[in-house]
Amino acid sequence: MLAIATVSLTVALASCTSDPQSPGIEYMPDMYRTPALEPYSGNSNYADSMEARIPAEGSIAQGYIPYGIPNTNEGYELAGNILKNPLLSSDVTLSEGKEIYTKFCTHCHGKEGKGDGLTVTAGGHPPPPAYDSQTLKNLPEGKMFHTITYGKNLMGPHASQLNVEERWKVIRYVQTLQGNEANAEETTAEGAEGETISEEVTSEETAMNN
Ligand code: HEC
Repeated sequence: MLAIATVSLTVALASCTSDPQSPGIEYMPDMYRTPALEPYSGNSNYADSMEARIPAEGSIAQGYIPYGIPNTNEGYELAGNILKNPLLSSDVTLSEGKEIYTKFCTHCHGKEGKGDGLTVTAGGHPPPPAYDSQTLKNLPEGKMFHTITYGKNLMGPHASQLNVEERWKVIRYVQTLQGNEANAEETTAEGAEGETISEEVTSEETAMNN
C-alpha cells in the first residue's frame, strides 16, 4: 500500500508544473505531437526558413481537374469532337444544373435561354443567341464546355466560378433549353444501356485529362 501511495504521489507531483502552457507528463508524446510547424515560427529545414513551400512544378491541387485543350479555334473544334458529358441526365443533375444556371447565366441568357436576360432587356447589352436558335440548337456539348471554360466574345470565362462537374451539370440543363432532347437523351440512353469497359475508360480518361 505504502509503495503504491508513494508512486502515485510522485507521479502526481511530477506532473505538476508552473508553466500554464505545459501539458504535464505525456504518455507517448509522438502519438499526438505532429511534426507540423507553428505558423511564422520558421522552418529550419530550408535556408530561407519559409514554412509554406511553393508546390513542386506540375503539382495538381486535390480535386482539381486540369483542362488540357488550348483556347484556340482548333481547341474549340477539338472539344466539340471529343468531350462527352460524364454525367447522366437525371432529375438531380438537372435540378442542380438549373440552380447553377439561375445563379450564373440567367442575367444574360434569360430564364428560358432565349437571350433575353436583364443585361439585355434592362442593360442594353447585345443579346446572346437563343439556345434553341438555328445557331445553337445543335451545338455539341464539348463546345459548350469549352465556351463556359474560356468564355467566347462577350461571354466571360466561368472556369473560376464553376468546377468541372458544375460545368457539366449546367450543360445538362442548357440542353433542355436547346429544345433538342436528342442531344441530352442520346448520351443518357448510351449510359443507361451500359457502355463497354473500354469505352468507359476512354470517356473517363477524356474527362480526367481535360
Ligand atoms: C455576360 C453575359 C453572359 C453570361 C453571364 C453567360 N453568357 Fe453564355 N453567352 C453570352 C454571349 C454574348 C454569347 C454569344 C457568344 C458568341 O458566340 O459571340 C454566349 C454564348 C453561350 C453559349 C454558346 C457557346 C458557343 O460555343 O457558341 C453557351 C452554351 C452559353 N453561352 C452558356 C452559358 C452558360 C451555361 C452560362 C452560365 C454558366 C453563361 N453562358 C453565362 C453571354 C453570357
